[in-house]
Amino acid sequence: MTKPIRKAVLPVAGLGTRFLPATKAVPKEMLTIVERPIIQYVVDEARAAGIEHIVFVTGRNKHVIEDHFDMAYELEDTLKARNKAEALKLLEEHRPQPGSTSFTRQQAPLGLGHAIWCARDIIGDEPFAILLPDVIIKSKVSCLKQMVDLYQQTGGNIIAVEEVPEDQTQNYGIVELSEKINDNASRISNMVEKPAPGTAPSNLMITGRYLLQPEIFDLLSNQDTGAGGEIQLTDSMLKLMRDQHFASIKFEGRSYDCGSKPGFLSANIAFGMDDPNLAEELIPFMRAAIEGSL
Ligand code: G1P
Repeated sequence: MTKPIRKAVLPVAGLGTRFLPATKAVPKEMLTIVERPIIQYVVDEARAAGIEHIVFVTGRNKHVIEDHFDMAYELEDTLKARNKAEALKLLEEHRPQPGSTSFTRQQAPLGLGHAIWCARDIIGDEPFAILLPDVIIKSKVSCLKQMVDLYQQTGGNIIAVEEVPEDQTQNYGIVELSEKINDNASRISNMVEKPAPGTAPSNLMITGRYLLQPEIFDLLSNQDTGAGGEIQLTDSMLKLMRDQHFASIKFEGRSYDCGSKPGFLSANIAFGMDDPNLAEELIPFMRAAIEGSL
């Protein structure tokens, strides 16, 4: 029997400099894809995988995220008085249960590994998920749910991976695989964070979804720095691989890197097209944009 995955860590301390000036006063995680903030997609993915408690690792100027997942008492009261049942239902559906979120601060931007380590006391001694909120995933079944399903068979540690063009491997964590577990999953034999151009062991990048055992925290507590002078999660995972097994999953679905402008805009189009009313207006607009007749 594997221990269940009940908690997830969402590191949301990043500054979002690529989206200035929008992110001067608004956290990048609160920028919207259609009508939902990016962070809401990630929380919804986690909850669809059965996650019961979400730990946000925040930083200064991120309090809006906490407000977003709280009850907006005055707003809801006004909606009730005006019989706006649909809007109320929407707010209720997206709001986590009272007591099912925690917020802790990463006091200095020392790297992803450091951000995750900041959640150690709240996670305690149990396996947990990590979802990087720059990445949102459009899939039939929540990507994290696909990972939890695999975890129930394999235990250990699981990382979502996908292919990237070879000239982009230096921007990501890259894994090397050994034997297959099934059509979509393999054992991981090596990983490296942001390999120098031409040295990547494969073209499979770490997508930003992880299921990890709590022993990762002991390794992160060494605070060793790696690529870019930061405390890297990948480096500690590589150390954990000496004692525990790691599996990769090529999930069904498509990821959008909303930390980049092309990814953010593509996500808006992809999720917008899911709404038939929006699609009806978007299709002729995009056709005109391609033909240069806007
Ligand atoms: C982080 C991880 C990297 C992963 C990437 C996915 O890098 O360190 O392994 O591939 O997220 O987006 P960052 O984007 O924070 O530089």
